[in-house]
Amino acid sequence: MIKVLFVCLGNICRSPMAEAILRHKINEAGLADNIQVDSAGTGDWHVGQPPHKGTRQILKQYRIDDSGIRARQIRKEDFNEFQYIIAMDSSNMKNVSKFFTNDTHCEIKMLLDFVPKHKGSDVPDPYYTGNFAEVYELVNEGCERLLAYIGEKENLI
Ligand code: 4NP
Repeated sequence: MIKVLFVCLGNICRSPMAEAILRHKINEAGLADNIQVDSAGTGDWHVGQPPHKGTRQILKQYRIDDSGIRARQIRKEDFNEFQYIIAMDSSNMKNVSKFFTNDTHCEIKMLLDFVPKHKGSDVPDPYYTGNFAEVYELVNEGCERLLAYIGEKENLI
């Protein structure tokens, strides 16, 4: 099983949105038996909570299921369990890098590195901007490209 973990700061806005969108695409592609998705935050303020109202609203608008998603904090075991760890911005990337050891073999990237025209860019934090529609567009494109990348790399498509 290939496992993908999305990481943001609070795990209530961007990374659960990415989790729901990628899972939806995986189901549509018939790859649910091959790829699993989860998400986590670098902070612990919202542990146990469902996604933010803005994330839930935009996912509902696109008929993407987010049931059962609850916030959790990233832990060092994640770096052994997941092959792909995908950060939403450069600050998350810096926080995630604190967990690196010589045994870290997973691929760690920012989501928008998979979108050529946005390479190196952060997914803006809608907790502060309030713009969940903009984030949906970016995360959706990132997930589309990420799935194509993983599919090709793991010989699934
Ligand atoms: P997220 O957004 O990292 O996309 O989930 C945030 C959610 C909560 C907070 C910050 C960012 N907070 O400070 O509580």
